[in-house]
Amino acid sequence: MLKGDFPIESFRGLRTPFYYYDLPLLRRTLDAVQAQLDRNPTFRMHYAVKANFNPRILAEIASRGFGADCVSGGEVRAALEAGFPPEGIVYAGVGKSDEEIRLALGAGIARFNAESAAELEVLDELAARMGKVAPVSLRINPDIGAHTHAGITTGLAENKFGINYEQLDEVMDLALRLPHVQYCGLHFHIGSQILDMMDFRALCNRINELVLRLQRGGRPVGDINVGGGLGINYQHPNHLPIADFEAYFGTFGRHLQLPAGTTVHFELGRSIVAPCGSLIARVLYVKQGTRKQFAIIDGSMTELVRPAMYRAYHRVENLSSDEPEEVYDVVGPVCESSDVFVKEMAIDRCRRGDFVAIRSAGAYGESMASHYNCHPLPESFFFEG
Ligand code: LLP
Repeated sequence: MLKGDFPIESFRGLRTPFYYYDLPLLRRTLDAVQAQLDRNPTFRMHYAVKANFNPRILAEIASRGFGADCVSGGEVRAALEAGFPPEGIVYAGVGKSDEEIRLALGAGIARFNAESAAELEVLDELAARMGKVAPVSLRINPDIGAHTHAGITTGLAENKFGINYEQLDEVMDLALRLPHVQYCGLHFHIGSQILDMMDFRALCNRINELVLRLQRGGRPVGDINVGGGLGINYQHPNHLPIADFEAYFGTFGRHLQLPAGTTVHFELGRSIVAPCGSLIARVLYVKQGTRKQFAIIDGSMTELVRPAMYRAYHRVENLSSDEPEEVYDVVGPVCESSDVFVKEMAIDRCRRGDFVAIRSAGAYGESMASHYNCHPLPESFFFEG
C-alpha cells in the first residue's frame, strides 16, 4: 500500500495508535504461498500463530486450509476458535505445562513437537491418564545458525530449544518405547528473518544427514517439519511487499533428499503477515534539540517493541505531509530511552497531528504489545480493498 493509498480521512475519528492491516496484500501473499504448495504436493503449511493472532488475520489464513503452528495452550485455543482444524495444528515449546498438554490432547491436535526426553515422559503419562496416544515429532537442534553456510560446521551450539542432534537416537528409542506416545517425525527451526537461502540449504544438508543415519540404524524417519524463518524486506515495503517464496520453497524442493512421498511441513509466520500491517500513530510534538530534532509520536514500544528490543528497522512514513523531508529521531512517550522507532531518518516534514505509518509491522507487532505504562492494547482496523 503506497503512502497515498492510506485512507487518512477515515483515520481522523480513530484513537491512535492502532494497527492497520492491508487485507488484499495478505490475500496476495497467501496466493503466492499457495502457488508454491501447488507445485510441491508433499508440502504443508502451518502458519506460526505467534507472529500475529489477531482473530481476523487468523480467520483469513485458516480459510485457505492452512494449518497452524502454536507455542502455547492459548495459541492452540486461538487457532481452534479461528477455524483451524485440530488435524492441522502442531504445537512446539520447550515448556509445555500439564494444563496446556491436556488441552491439546483433548482437542486432538496433529502433533506435539517435543523438545526433551523429560517432556516425552510427561506426554506419555498425561496421555495415558486420558486414554490417548500423543502424536509426537522430535524437535532437533540442528546446530545451524542463520548465516551459517552449507558445508561449514560450527561448534556445538547448545541452547534451550530442541534435542541435541547427537542425542537423537537415544531420545527416539525412548519415544518408540513409551506406550502412549507415537513417534511421527522430526522437527527443526533455525531462526527468523533469514534472507540467505544458503542457511536453509545448510538445514537441508543436516536433515539429509540425519535421515541417512536413522535409516542406517534401522529407525523410522516419519515426516519432516523444517520450521519457519523466511525473512522480508523491511527497507522497501512498497517495492518488495511479498517475500521470495519461490526461492524459499525451491531451496527445500531441490535440496531435501527424503524417501518418496515424505510430507514436509513448514511454519512460516513473519513472511506471511509482516508486510500487511502498519502501526498508525499521530505526531504529538516536534521537539528541536541542539543537534537533532525529535518527532514524538503517540505510538511506542508498548505497541511495537521490535525496534526497542532488537534494534529492528521499520520504515516510517508521514502520511499527512508532502513537504520536503527533514531528519528526525522518531520516538514514543514511554519512560525508557530505548523507546525509539528510528534514529536520523529523513521523513516528510512533521507537524502536530500528522499521521505516521510504521511499516512492515504485521508480524511480532500486535502479538507482542504490552500494557506497560498503563497503555491500553492497540485496536486494529482493516483495509478491505
Ligand atoms: N516455528 C518455530 C518453532 C518458531 O520458534 C518460530 C519463531 C516460527 C516457526 C516462525 O518463524 P518466522 O517464520 O516468523 O520467522 N519476535 C521476534 C521473532 C521471534 C521468532 C520466534 N520463533 C521478532 O520480532 O523478530
